[in-house]
Amino acid sequence: MKLFNVYPINEITITRAKGSYLWDDAGQQYLDMYGGHAVISIGHTHPHFVSRITHQLNQVAFYSNSIRIPLQQELADKLGKLSGKEEYQLFMCNSGAEANENAMKLASFHTGRKKIVAFSKSFHGRTSLAVAVTDNPSIVAPVNQTENVVFLPFNDTDTLKEYFDNHGREVAAVIVEGIQGVGGINVAEDSFLKKIRTVCTDYDALFIADEVQCGYGRTGEFFSTDSAGVDADIYSMAKGMGNGFPVAGILIAPFLKPKYGMLGTTFGGNHLACAAALAVLEVIEEENLMYNAKSTGEFLTSRLKKIKGLKNVRGRGLMIGFDVDGELKELKKNLLFHQQVFTGEAKPNTIRLLPSLALRKKEAEEFLESLEEEINNMVSSPNLVNQA
Ligand SMILES: Cc1ncc(COP(=O)(O)O)c(C=O)c1O
Repeated sequence: MKLFNVYPINEITITRAKGSYLWDDAGQQYLDMYGGHAVISIGHTHPHFVSRITHQLNQVAFYSNSIRIPLQQELADKLGKLSGKEEYQLFMCNSGAEANENAMKLASFHTGRKKIVAFSKSFHGRTSLAVAVTDNPSIVAPVNQTENVVFLPFNDTDTLKEYFDNHGREVAAVIVEGIQGVGGINVAEDSFLKKIRTVCTDYDALFIADEVQCGYGRTGEFFSTDSAGVDADIYSMAKGMGNGFPVAGILIAPFLKPKYGMLGTTFGGNHLACAAALAVLEVIEEENLMYNAKSTGEFLTSRLKKIKGLKNVRGRGLMIGFDVDGELKELKKNLLFHQQVFTGEAKPNTIRLLPSLALRKKEAEEFLESLEEEINNMVSSPNLVNQA
């Protein structure tokens, strides 16, 4: 049987991983500045992660949500503590798209309304409604097309206000990434997030913060939108939540009341997923990884800003983007195949850095050295590069 060929792949087979490093089947070492697309939060094969999952596997891996699963409450308590959202409620599922799907569904149930406001360059996943609020028509199938979604320009407070002045009572929810990931590391301004909070409150719509990529400690705060000092009504989480174990969820404000059968999923909140998610939070807390994300991120960003040839260095914590063009168009590929460094990209010319929150300063320095060396190799004039 053939694999359904939807991913353009690099001819590399990873067989081992530890911390911020990966090794291929020929024993070649790679530095992971991509975190497998922002998934690796506490570092590859962290010993506590491995032992907690192994222990759980030997106890019970799965039973359905028809029985009591105390690990779910343990996880909810820990999440409440680390995120500072103790009064919120947790619903668990399996992927980022599913988290957003449930968030929007809940908003629609609660408000009785149909309209969702999303923003230009957004990415929220590939399931039905998640893809409908994603600003990329090429991945929206005809069956996903709906009149219920309106796209407004990102970071445009005036247009948002004007839309709500005219249609606010039709809106079930506004969904926004605190920092757009797939869209190219575009940071939502605090004033924009505050305006979303205000219009949602004024018109009884729900504020959904999609924290799937930018959240879970990556910016140095638990949620990226915390920077604006506002609370969303629903936070969606996935990627970093399980450090590679597929687990996701939504945090739901206390005024949203559950009803039996309203949401549900077979695998969500299973024993193994809870053990993985608990291990992640325990390590984040124990190793002070949110602080590390902030300080190592600041160090990286300040050094990147000194490198000539890189444009518009941006982001927060360990969610960093910069643009390259001209002679550096192939930089991402060259970093991988010449310097053995994994990075991410966003169309048309952005490089994204999404390493583990445990990235050490010396690993960041190693990356900067590789980057400068590669840029030096690529540009015709070596003077283009500052020695920062
Ligand atoms: C912001 C954001 N939301 C949702 C998703 C979808 O997550 P998943 O691929 O787990 O469905 C992604 C994936 O990249 C994402 O970046």
